[in-house]
Amino acid sequence: MSKSSSPLKIAIAGLGVVGSEVARQLINRGQQLSVAAGRSLDVVAVSARSSASDRGFVMDGIDWHDDAITLADRDDVDVIIEMIGGSEGVALDLTRASLRRGKHVITANKAMIAHHGAELAGLAEDNQVSLLFEAAVAGGIPAVKTLREGLAGNNISRIAGILNGTCNYILTTMEQTGEGFADVLADAQRLGYAEAEPSFDVDGIDAAHKLTILAAIAFGQKPDFGAAFIQGIRDVSAVDFTFANQLGFRIKLVGVAEPGQAPRMQTCLLPLDSQLAKVNGVLNAVEFHGEPIGSVLAVGPGAGGGATSSAVLADLMDIAHARGSLPFGQPVAQLVDTADQVGTAVADTPFYVRLMVVDEPGVLAGVTNILQRYAISVESLIQQGRAPGDTVALVMTTHETAEPILTQALDEMAGLTSVKAKPVAMPILSADLEG
Ligand code: HSE
Repeated sequence: MSKSSSPLKIAIAGLGVVGSEVARQLINRGQQLSVAAGRSLDVVAVSARSSASDRGFVMDGIDWHDDAITLADRDDVDVIIEMIGGSEGVALDLTRASLRRGKHVITANKAMIAHHGAELAGLAEDNQVSLLFEAAVAGGIPAVKTLREGLAGNNISRIAGILNGTCNYILTTMEQTGEGFADVLADAQRLGYAEAEPSFDVDGIDAAHKLTILAAIAFGQKPDFGAAFIQGIRDVSAVDFTFANQLGFRIKLVGVAEPGQAPRMQTCLLPLDSQLAKVNGVLNAVEFHGEPIGSVLAVGPGAGGGATSSAVLADLMDIAHARGSLPFGQPVAQLVDTADQVGTAVADTPFYVRLMVVDEPGVLAGVTNILQRYAISVESLIQQGRAPGDTVALVMTTHETAEPILTQALDEMAGLTSVKAKPVAMPILSADLEG
């Protein structure tokens, strides 16, 4: 790409929270941003589901398109900013059509990149345009650029991140208030922090999309969402925070990607003094580990119009200055198939296990018998309180155990008459996570 001084013509598809904020920034701060870009940044067209509402910017001179796909047909548009969302449908059709027509694409669409990133990056390469998605990972944290450009000379050994603000808010609030998951989720929905349909967030899917993208850049893999191991936060109870604290840990939804292993997104226990354990509320954080850098931690707002539009504008600056980057840092032909490289292996870890059992003689013998048969070694065991005949929590921590073995053992424990609820298990990430 060679830099031009002519105006950069922009079309924005999707005017939700982020799309509207991008438009407001470009229109209301146009002069300042154009100086930074070294050329005029002109929004020439927009498309959204509804043209009705006032979005805080003046539409004069900007063309309205009812059908977003038609933006790709405009000869006067250089950059499409895709803010529609969804891995398939209009967002994907528009992105493919725009790249084929030789337009740069900026997107915040983590689902689309996690599922179709290699194909779309190939289209961008073939048509010698940019496909940029800084806003897709951890909102305002420059996680993609940090990894793809800033740490490009490193051999990355691990990425660990808190990549979903909704989950981090829910877990932090549960710990601080002692309230249960359902109550905190309902409050988060009332406050607008969580979606009415929360499963993408609370089941770890949104965070796993982001982890898939980071793993692809870090390890030269084609992004492959299907290769990720994903567990969300629904099974955590208020009592788990008390036990975790007593054991010196905090509960977080953490994504970990390492070379040769399936990226894993799991609700887990982190040592209280670890860097990620201190990242609370809606914040996101990403730790990069590699040689020769050692480790780098980036913390910041992972969602919302301000944070996410900041990332979109950064991508726009790169295009304006013709700072061409390959989407995943290397040509698509060099990216390896993730599934071939990582299989389904997940590293053995110590686990936290909570059983709800009837407080009566012989219960422990039944549980330890199963542990013995599966060769699972217990590191510590806590039963809080004494409540003969009632249900109490029995908490164990194990030594390093293979997740499939633990799952089989827990399935058997669930069948014991003295075990009254589905056992809960969470991996314990060691201080080693700090690199
Ligand atoms: N819903 C996400 C979060 C932000 O709560 O972090 C968009 O990916």
